[in-house]
Amino acid sequence: MEEEIFSADSIYEALNTKLIGKTVLYSPAVPSTMDVAREAVRNGAADGAVVITDHQTAGRGRLGRGWVSPPGVNLTFSIILYPKLEHLARLTLVACLAIARSIEEITFLETSIKWPNDVQIGGKKVSGVLVESDVAGDKVKSAIVGIAVNVNLDIEAIPEIADFATSLKHEIGIPVPRLTMLSALLSEFEKVYKDMRKGEPVQAEWKRRLNTLGRQVTVRCGRTVHKGIAEDVDQDGNLLLRLLDGKLELISAGDVTLKV
Ligand code: BTN
Repeated sequence: MEEEIFSADSIYEALNTKLIGKTVLYSPAVPSTMDVAREAVRNGAADGAVVITDHQTAGRGRLGRGWVSPPGVNLTFSIILYPKLEHLARLTLVACLAIARSIEEITFLETSIKWPNDVQIGGKKVSGVLVESDVAGDKVKSAIVGIAVNVNLDIEAIPEIADFATSLKHEIGIPVPRLTMLSALLSEFEKVYKDMRKGEPVQAEWKRRLNTLGRQVTVRCGRTVHKGIAEDVDQDGNLLLRLLDGKLELISAGDVTLKV
């Protein structure tokens, strides 16, 4: 594969979207695109603006974890949105579905979604989603959807994640052009986001792609641990957990870790 030039111009040229990525804010290196996006919101960033970098030096994941991404190999970006409150909880679902569809389009690999925010290949994490929002009363002032995809990461080079993570290159044995992957992902994101806003049933496909349902899981919410069978999910993506005593518990994605 020819070396790809990753820049604002090459990104604009690769995109086929109308809303998502209409504005692209690219920097070669930043600590976290979430923080750059937050600053961009303060400066009046447009709906659908994408903050993207080639090297995220202090990326963060859910629950205070870090996100490791060396330069030049992965996709790490944040999408700025101004959704209605009723759509906020569904943004993780929209992102995971877009990621799963686009990976399949570009690589023909089979993906699955581990509730609430992981996209996996063969049970290993290839992508993660982090949504941060600013809500005042019943109004969402802004939402930032952070997405990471391990595209051409050499998994063996990072032993601390090698047991549970993978990359597209690792799975198909050849490098995947990041701009092609980004373009497919943002196109799918735009489609799913628009469908979700129109009230179309995107949740059904997301649910079909979940690998969590019907399985025995341990859910950790802060200090509380629930064990049970992941029975169902609702329209907003919350998990319905059948506890060992037979009661049904609704678990929202917020502060949850899940062990399958
Ligand atoms: C997770 O699986 O815990 C979520 C990982 C999200 C990482 C992405 S990379 C782009 C954006 N910037 C960050 O600092 N985090 C998100």
